Amino acid sequence: MVAIDGPAGAGKSTVGAEVARRLGALYFDTGVVYRTLALVASEQGIDPADAERLAGIARTLSLRVAPPSVDDGRLYDVWLDGRDVTWAIRSSEIDRLASQVSAHPSVRQALLKLQRDVARQGRVIMAGRDIGTVVMPDAPVKVWLQASLEERARRRQRELARRGLTQSLEEIRRELADRDRRDATRAVAPMRPAADAVIIETDGRSIEEVVEAVLAVVRDRCECARHGADSSGVASVATSKD
Ligand code: DC
Repeated sequence: MVAIDGPAGAGKSTVGAEVARRLGALYFDTGVVYRTLALVASEQGIDPADAERLAGIARTLSLRVAPPSVDDGRLYDVWLDGRDVTWAIRSSEIDRLASQVSAHPSVRQALLKLQRDVARQGRVIMAGRDIGTVVMPDAPVKVWLQASLEERARRRQRELARRGLTQSLEEIRRELADRDRRDATRAVAPMRPAADAVIIETDGRSIEEVVEAVLAVVRDRCECARHGADSSGVASVATSKD
């Protein structure tokens, strides 16, 4: 088990999916869970402050994460009740809403089991904000990806451009800073590195260099890495109402 935490835009997904591919492990991006809940809330017109209703939906959230079915830059598919919501959960509205809904303790509690069930599926690389501190506190490998606000804003802008979208650096910077503040100051499971996490600075380093840095921590801390197989980095993860 590898826990990868860090702020928005630090490269957790890109790096996590590649590390998973190299180790023949499952990659699970827990942000998807909060984003999907935010999408449902937005579509149903639910007030992001309504913790009780949100937690109710969180308890029956039916989502599936699977290897990419379309070659459009996605790392994986996200299906919600049979609908492909991979890109729908990546809008700036959902960026903001996901951060808001994730601040409710009852919502986090409702989504904890789902995440831990995935963690029990075997080799897993899990990315988020509280993986090393709350979701998998016993993970043998914990890393925290760090990047300056400036660098993260530039990365986000490039990512948007690849999808044909434009947004000013200043606006992206402001949105990321707002999200950092909310994610780091909430009362339950705030975003922070676990005491035993290895901090990896990613500014000025290529994806390959960061992947190598994470693999070095894995090699150092985890015997099982020696037996790594090469296979698809994203295995299917499904939650259901049952
Ligand atoms: O990683 P991301 O940007 O897709 O996450 C979206 C939001 O979900 C983020 O702003 C805070 C929340 N989140 C969380 O609270 N805990 C996690 N483990 C992952 C995401």
